[in-house]
Amino acid sequence: MTMSHNLRELISAERIAARVAELGAQIRADHPDQTITVVAVLKGSFLFLADLVRAIPGDVRIEFLGVASYHGGTSSSGAVQITQDLRGSIEGHSVVLVEDIVDTGLTMDYLLRTLAVRGPRSVRIASLLDKPSNREIDVPVDYVGFTIPDEFVVGYGLDLGELYRNLPYVAVYVP
Ligand code: IMP
Ligand code: MG
Repeated sequence: MTMSHNLRELISAERIAARVAELGAQIRADHPDQTITVVAVLKGSFLFLADLVRAIPGDVRIEFLGVASYHGGTSSSGAVQITQDLRGSIEGHSVVLVEDIVDTGLTMDYLLRTLAVRGPRSVRIASLLDKPSNREIDVPVDYVGFTIPDEFVVGYGLDLGELYRNLPYVAVYVP
């Protein structure tokens, strides 16, 4: 069963919902009258994606990008690999990359460079969480849900060894 004694709630479901509503409105305000191509970085962003797209009024396309940067542990391997590419072209699109957390910045830096050469109109980054204390590469995170301290977190899509993604809140994992 779930080892709930190892989890300390950091951000409640209610706070997440309120912040996601704000982010959705802000994203639409920054892209008036445009179809927004939301590119979700799998797997960690799936719950954030589901709530965020429902908070963006107007036309939205949804694409998925599979990336592996962590391999089951609690520290980054540094290597980034695309495990599932986009199905369609993003040429001329207004893209919002949706990520669960920006930690070292290596993943987002790699994805920004990879998508930029495909000729999008714009690429902005929305991340549920930002852990700036661990940054190795400066990346512009346009929309941040919550800035958190340098702790390993799980829940609301984020995992430890594929577990805890289904928690409706974000928790610090206490080993
Ligand atoms: P970065 O390339 O170091 O910025 O790492 C980004 C990826 O590392 C995220 O998309 C997550 O999959 C993973 N990650 C970083 N910090 C955490 C954490 O605290 N909990 C769960 N996953 C994390
Ligand atoms: Mg991720």
